[in-house]
Amino acid sequence: MGKKLGIGLLGLGTVGAGVASILADPNGRHPLVEEIELKRVAVRDLKRQRKVLISSSLLTTDPLAVVEDESINIVVEVMGGLEPARSLILRSIELGKSVVTANKAVIARYGEEIAKASKAAGVYVLIEAAVGGGIPIIEPIKQSLSGNKIKRISGIINGTTNYILSRMSKEGTSFNEVLKDAQSLGFAESDPAADVEGLDAADKIAILSGLAFGGSINRSEIPTQGINKLEIKDINYASQLGYELKLLAITERVQEFSSRNDSLPLATFVQPTLVPKDHPLASVSGVNNAILVEGDPIGEVMFYGPGAGAGPTASAVVADILNIAGVQPMVDLNNYLDPLLSASSWRKCHLVESKEILQKNYIRLNCKDAPGVIGQIGTVFGRNNVSIESIVQFDASQSDAEIVVITHLVSKGQIAQSLKEIEGLSSVQSITAHMGCL
Ligand code: HSE
Repeated sequence: MGKKLGIGLLGLGTVGAGVASILADPNGRHPLVEEIELKRVAVRDLKRQRKVLISSSLLTTDPLAVVEDESINIVVEVMGGLEPARSLILRSIELGKSVVTANKAVIARYGEEIAKASKAAGVYVLIEAAVGGGIPIIEPIKQSLSGNKIKRISGIINGTTNYILSRMSKEGTSFNEVLKDAQSLGFAESDPAADVEGLDAADKIAILSGLAFGGSINRSEIPTQGINKLEIKDINYASQLGYELKLLAITERVQEFSSRNDSLPLATFVQPTLVPKDHPLASVSGVNNAILVEGDPIGEVMFYGPGAGAGPTASAVVADILNIAGVQPMVDLNNYLDPLLSASSWRKCHLVESKEILQKNYIRLNCKDAPGVIGQIGTVFGRNNVSIESIVQFDASQSDAEIVVITHLVSKGQIAQSLKEIEGLSSVQSITAHMGCL
């Protein structure tokens, strides 16, 4: 290949240190690793103790100096956050440099802007590490599955919440207790909001949706429900009914009441969901992620593995660097962009209104334990054309009872109207939980 490709690293945290470790130890890896060289690294604090041995002469606190360094061909952005990460990515592209990033927040919001800029500049922006950590999912959707019509992607794409749910289920411990322990063990951030409120999963499903269906959706419109309000009793009831409780992110093609020919209607959302125990996603536990892709003609294919952590995420980042290293001579000679490797959108997509989304539902109601209560609830559902799959009374004590309803497939609009009417029944004290169900 001749001259080595220069790598500039923005960020030397967990992922950055993982990338630097791989690049420092090419032995036994693909020979292309020998053809790339880490030239400069932007860090926040020059004096911080590092997990990786790195020459202090490579370090700078000025990320723009890394981006603008002429010896750097590929900029690797692993600093996270929206700014300055977005501006540094765009500046790199402007300078004709390809970019590798793990930044799901930036790509979920500015992916289209970045893809357009990279196409115009004739460079690549690769994002394998942004979803699913070490699991190859981005390039398989872009390349290996590109002959399919994708119908649906559903996945467990947040390791922190899956770890918390797995422990709640196994130990019967409350959300708050497990969260505290997960934080002390380093499995959850000290500020866990992005993970436990489902925001991280929403970023990731927005990215997968854009690649699978060929057009971006508005990240801020994705209905998102996290696990922070989840009670242990719902995990217990779900288990007694034959389900595991998982935080699922889903994007799928749907029919719309008033269909628009110029845009593909999608239902995309994040919510705690009851998954039948024999479903492939039910057995995914701990920090692992899994993504189930359904397409025509492939049917179902599931991607499973470590969704976070230094090694797995760095594995995805380095794969992207090597992909670019492999095509770099072509880029230089012909200004040629491989259409499957570069991100592109080829149609418009939009989210259907939430009330049009069809799903099965799990609903827990706190009621009086009195004759006729189940009948009254059933009447309201019947009036709204909601068909009930099962209705079970748990935990009847003196005057109160808990009733759990699982519905057949109905629209969210029908459920919302039913729940409004049920709340008005004098025999119902409160609707205590509402989740999806596969
Ligand atoms: N915070 C993420 C998770 C890892 O818990 O899955 C990085 O995407």
